[in-house]
Amino acid sequence: MKQEIEKHLAEINAFITSSADELEQFRIRFAGKKGILNDLFAMFKTVAPEERREMGKLLNELKESVQQKLDELKETVGAVGRKPEKKLDLTLPATDEHTGSRHPLAIIRKRIIDIFGRIGYTVAEGPEIEDDWHNFSALNFAPEHPARDMQDTFFIGSDPDILLRTHTSSVQVRVMETTKPPIRMTFPGRVYRNEAISARAHCFFHQVEGLYIDKNVSFADLRQTMMYFAKEMFSSDTRIRLRPSYFPFTEPSAEMDISCNLCGGDGCSFCKYTGWVEILGCGMVNPAVLRNCGIDPEEYSGFAFGIGVERITNLVFNVKDLRIFSENDVRFLKQFGSAL
Ligand code: PHE
Repeated sequence: MKQEIEKHLAEINAFITSSADELEQFRIRFAGKKGILNDLFAMFKTVAPEERREMGKLLNELKESVQQKLDELKETVGAVGRKPEKKLDLTLPATDEHTGSRHPLAIIRKRIIDIFGRIGYTVAEGPEIEDDWHNFSALNFAPEHPARDMQDTFFIGSDPDILLRTHTSSVQVRVMETTKPPIRMTFPGRVYRNEAISARAHCFFHQVEGLYIDKNVSFADLRQTMMYFAKEMFSSDTRIRLRPSYFPFTEPSAEMDISCNLCGGDGCSFCKYTGWVEILGCGMVNPAVLRNCGIDPEEYSGFAFGIGVERITNLVFNVKDLRIFSENDVRFLKQFGSAL
């Protein structure tokens, strides 16, 4: 028996193949149900007690080498039929790189932020889910005041305190509550209103808010800053017009128009033949708002403005319908690849 095992061991050690069939035959011959291993283990029961130790050891050695061989050859056999690894050919032309393009609203948001950045405005952001205090109350909207209806609000769940911000003015409050003046900042972001979707209105849109608080800030500073913005954003011959308006958080308040840059002020369908287009709301920060945010209105004054990003984008890129901004039509989006 000993001799027989040793013969098998030698055979196993020498065995080599790259054929799956041959390997399977090898497995059946040694490890199959009626294979050599099972035969030998059956014989082992008849081995004399004094030889058992040695025979047991040899038999186990045999069993292990069968298994080892099977494992080892499985890998080589598995590799056959697999394609050899493709060699890297450095002489081939490079594949095209398809970089995406910025969304037109993102392009304009960046331009607005950069224009104010050049006169010292830094950037901050606030949450889109707000509470009543930051969106309304601190901004001097009285609880039952009809001014709340100027912005038809999405409330979250049944809690009238939690809502989707209707404007980025909520960030003014967050910043003034935590920052000691002077403050010179812009706050870009998305805002939400429960409005019927049309070519001119959507249930969400984008604003860039601006806030300037310091000692001795006057309406002249506001007007000059807005003029600078309009000329930088459009062209040096752009004119501005401030119309008296009402916001609870600014006093006095104004709506700002620019001379329509599509028709140069002559009148077209975009400006409804008036020659002017409204692009933002602004005003001097109401002393009540400063007080609500812990800033002394006797010491500080300032102005704020809220720019509609969609409106500016429409004007710059001559887009007539703002619904297209959120339809994800790549044919539309691809046109802005070179604009940065
Ligand atoms: N928050 C106002 C709006 O959304 C715009 C605004 C901002 C007006 C700042 C004045 C000052 O309509």
